[in-house]
Amino acid sequence: MTATLITNIGELTTNVAASDDPCGTLRDAAVLIEGSRVAWVGPAASAPVVEQMVDAAGRAVLPGFVDSHTHLVFGGDRADEFAARMAGQPYAAGGIRTTVAATRAASDDELRRRLAGFVAELHAQGTTTFEIKTGYGLTVHDETRLARLAAEVTPEVTFLGAHVVAAEYADARDEYVELVAGPMLAACAPHAKWVDVFCETGAFTAAESRQVLEAGMTRGLVPRVHGNQLGPGDGVRLAVSLGAASVDHCTYLSDDDVAALAGSSTVATLLPGVEFSTRHPYPDARRLIDAGVTVALASDCNPGTSFTSSMPLMIALAVREMGMTVPEAVWAATAGGAAALRRDDIGRLAPGARADLVLLDAPSRTHLAYRPGVPLVHAVYKDGARL
Ligand code: NIG
Ligand code: FE
Repeated sequence: MTATLITNIGELTTNVAASDDPCGTLRDAAVLIEGSRVAWVGPAASAPVVEQMVDAAGRAVLPGFVDSHTHLVFGGDRADEFAARMAGQPYAAGGIRTTVAATRAASDDELRRRLAGFVAELHAQGTTTFEIKTGYGLTVHDETRLARLAAEVTPEVTFLGAHVVAAEYADARDEYVELVAGPMLAACAPHAKWVDVFCETGAFTAAESRQVLEAGMTRGLVPRVHGNQLGPGDGVRLAVSLGAASVDHCTYLSDDDVAALAGSSTVATLLPGVEFSTRHPYPDARRLIDAGVTVALASDCNPGTSFTSSMPLMIALAVREMGMTVPEAVWAATAGGAAALRRDDIGRLAPGARADLVLLDAPSRTHLAYRPGVPLVHAVYKDGARL
C-alpha cells in the first residue's frame, strides 16, 4: 500500500473535537495517508518517516469540503432570469420549469459532459464529496435518467421528483403526486439513497410532501427536505417528525422550528448562495447554533437560485452575513455536510477516515473568509490520491 506523509502543515483542521475547539486544530502537524485512508495524525516532529513525503510548507490543511446539497444534472441556464431578478423581479419556484424543458431536451451525453465539467469545478475548489438531486426531469423516464447520470459520479444521489408539479399536470396535481410516490419513485429508487421534496408555497404542501417522503422511506430511501426557503412553512417540522437527515434552506424559521430542530437529529443545512442570488435575507445561523442545532453549509448549486459550486464562498458568506465564526463555518462545510449525509468516514481527518483533504495557499483556514473570491486551493486529495 502506498504511504504518503504530508508534513510541515502550519494549521491542521481535524474536526476531532477538543473541549473548546470543535475543529480539533493542530499546529506544525503531519498527516500520514495509507492507501485511501488516513493512518496517523499528529505533530510533524514525531511523524513516521516514509518514502513519499509532501512538504506543505506551512500551509493550512483541512478535510475536503462536503457539499451535501446540489442540483448538478440539468440543461441550459437561467442567466436572463438572474439578470431580471437583479433588475427587480422576485424569485418564484415556477422558474424550475424552464430548466425542466431544457433538461428533457438534452441528450445523456450532453448532460454527462456538463456534469463532468461541474465535478471538475467542485474538485478544483476543494469539494471532495457532493450530493446530487434529480428534479429537472419530472417524468418517469427523465427522472430515472437524471438519477442514473448522477449515480455515475457520486454515491449520494437524491430523488427529487417532487421538485415542482410538472407542467403537464398543472390541473391534476394529485395525479402528479401519485406518479412521484408510485412509478417514478420505483424507477429511481435503485439509483438513489435519499428522497427529497420542495415543501413550499408554489411547490408541494406538507401533506403532499409527507406522502412522497413516506413512500420513499418504504423503499429504503432516507428523507431530506427543502423547507422554509421562501417564507415560513411546515418544512422543518415535517422533516423533524420523519427523522429526516437534513432540512435545507431554513431561511424563515419560527421559535418552534428552532426548538424542534434542537431536540432532533435533523441537520439544518444553510445555503447562502441562494440568498446571495435571490436577494432574500440570509438565514440566522447564530440563532440555530446557540440553540444547539447541528448546522451544515452547502452550495445548492443549481441554475435558478444559486449557480455557484464554491464552498469557500459559502464559508465567506456564512461568516460575513450569518453570524458564524470562522471555525463554525469551516466545520459546517466539512463535518456538518458529513453529518447531513450521515457519513462518518468523511469531514474529519483521523485514523480510519478517508484521506480527502485540501491544502490551502494560506497559513490558516481564516483566509477562506478573509480573502473572499480568491482561489486559495493549492492541492486536493481524494481517497488518498492527488486530484
Ligand atoms: O434549492 N428550492 C428548490 N430548488 C432549488 C431551486 C431550483 C430552481 O430554481 O431551479 C433550490 O433553491
Ligand atoms: Fe436545492
